[in-house]
Amino acid sequence: MKLEIQNVSKKYNRNKYGLKDFSITIEKGILGLLGPNGAGKSTLLKMIATVSKPTEGIIILNKNNILKDANYMRKQLGFLPQDFGVYPNLNAVEFLEYMAAMKGIGGPNLKPRINQILEGLNLLDAAHKPIGSYSGGMKQRVGIAQALLNNPKIVIFDEPTVGLDPEERVRFRNLISDLANDCIVILSSHIVSDIDTIADKVAIMKNGTLITHGNQETIIKKIQGNVFKTSIDKTQLADFKNRHIIVSTSRKNEKLNVRYISSQPLENSIKKETNLEDAYLYLTKIN
Ligand SMILES: Nc1ncnc2c1ncn2[C@@H]1O[C@H](COP(=O)(O)OP(=O)(O)OP(=O)(O)O)[C@@H](O)[C@H]1O
Ligand SMILES: [Mg+2]
Repeated sequence: MKLEIQNVSKKYNRNKYGLKDFSITIEKGILGLLGPNGAGKSTLLKMIATVSKPTEGIIILNKNNILKDANYMRKQLGFLPQDFGVYPNLNAVEFLEYMAAMKGIGGPNLKPRINQILEGLNLLDAAHKPIGSYSGGMKQRVGIAQALLNNPKIVIFDEPTVGLDPEERVRFRNLISDLANDCIVILSSHIVSDIDTIADKVAIMKNGTLITHGNQETIIKKIQGNVFKTSIDKTQLADFKNRHIIVSTSRKNEKLNVRYISSQPLENSIKKETNLEDAYLYLTKIN
């Protein structure tokens, strides 16, 4: 599996780009697509999923230009859009049967397949209740389920973990890891902890452009040795913010404990081990 995005732009109107001259090559495994609100994640994912077209550039899956042959992508695709909606009067089984019919999936394997997916997503107990009675996280899992119906080779999940509680996040993670053997899986999020434990590779984007792409270790190395912890007075915070990039703060008595990124740390600072969150914050701030 090889997905090539070549110089793709999406111009929404005269001076508004959702994506600008974006290029990336994605191979099998799990790619975590990280970026703040408005970075262009959904814009990119919708074009890969063939529900929106680039204004410039091409998208190639296994040497097939999917702008010319969208069905080549669609046959192998599982897609959870960010704004996925369900039909509240159907139960989960009925909804998945409905989606299967629309995707042209049928036959004797369908019922066991639906059962297996519902089990993997911890929805079996609720499978015969109307989806309208589900919690937000349960509805989100129905959305994830429909994307998996056709045993997709390329799976795109736009903000899949929104609304999932910690236990369901772990379950989702396991499900995705099983899936990823010879598939391309792309997950988007603006929360690093949603993807850092499952993604083989990470792409960080902002303002419609790709800031960096690669293994987590390689990305983390960019700021290794520059992450520190110190304690400051609350009154110093504004000035501190101007000089360094703050990752997090926590209150301690009258003081603030600050985790920050800097090439010129304060004297009383302790050097900390670097993680992806640090790198993400740093790269999205300076770019
Ligand atoms: N249909 C549209 N018409 C005009 N502008 C749009 C449209 N869709 C998105 N945009 C703009 O394109 C940019 C990228 O939006 P997009 O939804 O792709 O970001 P995102 O990274 O998915 O953000 P979020 O984390 O909020 O989901 C934003 O500035 C957004 O306002
Ligand atoms: Mg989005």
